[in-house]
Amino acid sequence: MFVDTHCHLEDENFAEDRAEVLARAKSVGVEKIINFGSTMKSSAAIVELTKNFSGLYGGVGVHPEEIDDFDKNSCAHLAEFAAEKNIVAIGEIGLDYHWEKDSERRLIQQKIFIAQLDLARQLHLPVCVHDRDAHADTLKILQTEGHDLRGVLHCYSGSVETAREIFKLDWFIGVDGPLTFKNSAKVPEVVKAAPRDRILIETDAPYLAPVPHRGKRNEPAFVVDVAKKLAEVRGDTLEQVAEYTTANANDLYHIF
Ligand code: NI
Repeated sequence: MFVDTHCHLEDENFAEDRAEVLARAKSVGVEKIINFGSTMKSSAAIVELTKNFSGLYGGVGVHPEEIDDFDKNSCAHLAEFAAEKNIVAIGEIGLDYHWEKDSERRLIQQKIFIAQLDLARQLHLPVCVHDRDAHADTLKILQTEGHDLRGVLHCYSGSVETAREIFKLDWFIGVDGPLTFKNSAKVPEVVKAAPRDRILIETDAPYLAPVPHRGKRNEPAFVVDVAKKLAEVRGDTLEQVAEYTTANANDLYHIF
């Protein structure tokens, strides 16, 4: 059994064939799928989705590229969403300096990130973090504001050194399509250095389809291609990867 620990099935790319996508996932052993919101609207959509399909779980939050969606009432609304069945996390939240070059807006990203970390702590929920080209500030915020919280740096793109700091916090790294890309020199090094109890697998569907589906719409069934590559790079069997990544997903998200 596999768990796709990060995906966006509420996305309009799945509007036409969501049930078929889920059936394909189940047919290759992907039995649980965790979907993450990036806006208040997509978070609300995920609350509905997890009610309507078995095996689906969700996280709710405001993504750093969507900070204009966040206001003084957002945390209260997210707390209401989080009380719903099968909502198991706050996310995806974090920092994105790749698309945001303005220093004042980066500071706003940091404030909103910290506010949602506080919310997760109040709600006793784990956190899914997006960090793009903001490794130093993300790590600093987790070290200073992340106490009594657990979570994952999803689609991990940092260095081995930063990963080791993340593991010291008892956090996880999420691995997806880029592990299978030819130009992803750093990611294989990171997964080789990672203890097996710190690794989650994910798709980030509909984005970042792994080889051999690169460039197409991604879907949860393809998490098996990520698992195969992880096994190859680390010298594990596919069965071992399935076993420890599922145990890790259960450990973090309590989706037994
Ligand atoms: Ni995502």
